[in-house]
Amino acid sequence: MTQWWRDAAIYQIYPRSFQDTNGDGIGDLEGIRQRLTYLRELGADAVWLSPIFQSPMKDFGYDISDYRAIDPLFGDMAQFDALLAQAHDAGLKFLLDFVPNHSSDQHAWFAESRSSRDNPKRDWYIWKDPAPGGGPPNNWISNFGGSAWEWDEATGQYYYHAFLTSQPDLNWRNPEVREAMHDVLRFWMDKGVDGFRIDVVWHLAKDTAFRDNPPDPAWKPTQPEIDRNLQKYSADQPFVHEIIEELRDVIDEYPDRLLIGEIYLPINRLVDYYGRGNEGLHLPFNFQLITSPWRADAIRELIAEYEAAIPQGGWPNWVLSNHDQPRIAKRVGLAQARVAAMMLLTLRGTPTLYYGDEIGIGDVHIPPDRIQDPWAKNEPDASFNRDKARTPMQWSADAHAGFSETEPWLPVTDDHQTRNVAHQQGDAGSMLALHRTLLSLRKQREDLRRGDYRALDLGGPLVAYLRGDTTAVVLNLSSDRAKLDLPEEWQGGEVLLKASTGEGGGPVPGSIEGDEGLIIAFRGAGE
Ligand code: NOJ
Repeated sequence: MTQWWRDAAIYQIYPRSFQDTNGDGIGDLEGIRQRLTYLRELGADAVWLSPIFQSPMKDFGYDISDYRAIDPLFGDMAQFDALLAQAHDAGLKFLLDFVPNHSSDQHAWFAESRSSRDNPKRDWYIWKDPAPGGGPPNNWISNFGGSAWEWDEATGQYYYHAFLTSQPDLNWRNPEVREAMHDVLRFWMDKGVDGFRIDVVWHLAKDTAFRDNPPDPAWKPTQPEIDRNLQKYSADQPFVHEIIEELRDVIDEYPDRLLIGEIYLPINRLVDYYGRGNEGLHLPFNFQLITSPWRADAIRELIAEYEAAIPQGGWPNWVLSNHDQPRIAKRVGLAQARVAAMMLLTLRGTPTLYYGDEIGIGDVHIPPDRIQDPWAKNEPDASFNRDKARTPMQWSADAHAGFSETEPWLPVTDDHQTRNVAHQQGDAGSMLALHRTLLSLRKQREDLRRGDYRALDLGGPLVAYLRGDTTAVVLNLSSDRAKLDLPEEWQGGEVLLKASTGEGGGPVPGSIEGDEGLIIAFRGAGE
C-alpha cells in the first residue's frame, strides 16, 4: 500500500462547467481530457469528478438513473475510458463521485419498487404508511425544503427523500441494496478508477423507528427549512459505520484505492468516520474552513481541535470550497483568498482544491431567469444559490471565457476578460501562479507534506504553525499590519514565499502586512 493520497493534492472538477467541446454550453469528458496538461502543470495529483452518470439532471447528476452508464451530455463510455487512461498516463489519480444515498426516481430499481407493494424491490427504498392520524409518517424535512415524504397514490404509501422528490432514498439496511452498490464500486474499480468521494455518507443510515426529529430552538426563518429540526434521527446513526466498513472492505479488494466521504458534522462526530481501527473512510471530508467564521481566533481553535481529534493512524484533510458552498474568494475577498490558499496548501493533510478557485473566481451575478439550482428554486430566500459556485471555468478572454462556443448553462464572471487562465499564466503575481508555486513547494518540501504540525500562538490576527523541523507558516487573517514576534530559532530564516506577490526571498521581517502570508524556511533545532 502506498497511501499515495497522503501526499496528493486533489482537484475537484464540476464537469458541467469545466470545458465544453461539443457546443451545447455544458462541459464534457472530452473537455476534461483536453485540459489534463493544464491540471498537471498546475500541480494537481488527483482529480475528483462530480457525477457524470446517466441522470435526468434534476439535481445535476446527483440523481442517478444508471450507476454504470455515462450520461450522453458528458460523452460515452469510450470517451470515459480514454480520459481515464490519459489521466493515468499524465500521472493523475482519478476519483469518481459515488451517490449511494438516493437514486433518481427514473432508476429502474425505483420503477420496480413503486410498481406494487409486493414487488421484490419494494424494500430497496423507504416506504411507510401514513401517520396514525393521516399525513406524512414523521416530521422529517427535505434538505431542499418541504416534507421529506412523498405520497404515492398508486400503492398508498409514502416514500422518503432526503433531497428532491425525484431523489428517493435507498434502504441501506437491505443487504441486497448494499450488494448491488458494492458491485457498482467494483465496476468502476475494474476500469482502474482510483477511488470515490461518497455523497452525503452520514445520511446512509436512518433511525429504525423513524422517530420525529426534535426542533432546533436556535432556528431562524432566514435559515434553510431543513435546519428547523436537529437531524437527530434522520442521519449519523450508528449503523452507518457498519455500512462504511463494508464499503471499505470492497475498496480494499483492490490495491491503493481511496475512500473519501462528504460529511457535514461537528469535529467530534466527524472523526468517528475514520472508523474503528481506521477501518472506515480514509478521508472524512473536513469542511471546517468552510463553515467557520474567517477569524484568526476561530481558525486557530478549529485547527487545534481537529488535529487533536484525529485518531491514531488517521490522516487529516482540508477543503476551502466546493460545488455546494460560496467560493472562498466570495467569502473572504480576493486579497485574503491568497492567504487562504496558502493555508489550504500548507496545513497538515490532503488538500482538495475546487476548480476556478485557483484563478480567484469570486461572486457571479445569476439573473433570476437563469437560476438552475433546484434548491435555490425551492427556497429562493432561505438558502445560498449554489449556481454561484458552479459557473464555467474561465480559460481565456475569448467569447464565453473560452469555455464554450455558445452561451454556457450559467454565466461567466463580469471580470472574465482578465480573470482567466491565459491572462494569469503570463503574470507571476497572479492567483494562478501562486497556486502553482504552492503546489510545487509541497512537492519539493517533505515538511509540507509529511512534517508534523505544531501551532505557534502569536495571537491577534495571526495563524502560525511549524511544519516539520524547518518550515514555518505565518498567515495574517486581517487587512492590518501586525508585529511579528517570532521565536529566536526562526530569526535566521528565509522567506520562501509571500502570499501577496507569489515571490520569495529575503530575511524574516519584523512585521507582516495585512492580507499577507509567509512560508519561512529555517534551520531546524539542533542543527
Ligand atoms: C451533496 C451534493 O454535494 C449536492 O450537490 C447534492 O445536491 C446533494 N448531496 C444531494 O445528492
